[in-house]
Amino acid sequence: MKVDILTLFPEMFRGPFDESIIRRAQDKGLVQIGLHQIRDHAADRHHTVDDTPYGGGAGMVMKPEPLAACIETARQHNPHATVLLTSPKGVPLSHRLAVDLAARPGLIIVCGRYEGIDERVRELFVDQEISIGDYVLSGGELAAMVVVDAVTRLVPGVLGSEESAANDSFSDGLLEYPQYTRPPVFRNHAVPEVLLSGNHALIAQWRRQQALQRTRRQRPDLLETAPLTEQDRRFLAQSHP
Ligand code: ADE
Repeated sequence: MKVDILTLFPEMFRGPFDESIIRRAQDKGLVQIGLHQIRDHAADRHHTVDDTPYGGGAGMVMKPEPLAACIETARQHNPHATVLLTSPKGVPLSHRLAVDLAARPGLIIVCGRYEGIDERVRELFVDQEISIGDYVLSGGELAAMVVVDAVTRLVPGVLGSEESAANDSFSDGLLEYPQYTRPPVFRNHAVPEVLLSGNHALIAQWRRQQALQRTRRQRPDLLETAPLTEQDRRFLAQSHP
């Protein structure tokens, strides 16, 4: 998958994209990430990328011409890409949306700054505006990193089978069960006995129940849409919230 990121701050991406799973995905050739400096597409001597808003008001708006030129350049080598804009006005990023994006042939992600981008660029070029949560960041760069991370781990072949995304939180509509590793007792807190039992059916049942309880406690909204079995419902009805 080709991902092109359009930003005024390409340096912000170097650390996060040069480490861990995103690094490995690039090294394996499964994800190709290109960073584009929007300012390079400004035609004037001062490389102006923003201007005051028509109608007045605080802040600056990203000018349409450099942004449009930058998107068109990125499109030349990522022709089938879906164009995303990171913005607090977008639809919320979710596991389901990440799965959907991971199946696209390419992504072009426009990182918004200032008070936003000229609306005509959004209308002409943007397929989907995405928010990573109900709070305002100083710019769309961190949000773009979040989108790329969430999507990359879902691209086939990026995760090895031993770290598969299948058990991650949200993949089955629930939050993930708690995990433990050695030592068996840490600061007087023991690992739950069942995990040491070697009984795989019992372990699977315990994990399912933990996921159900944790989801009810932290994210009760997810239980409304999670696919629950009759056994899950019985467990929830007879266990303490
Ligand atoms: N840019 C500023 N705030 C944002 C948010 N919450 N999500 C995505 N992009 C943003």
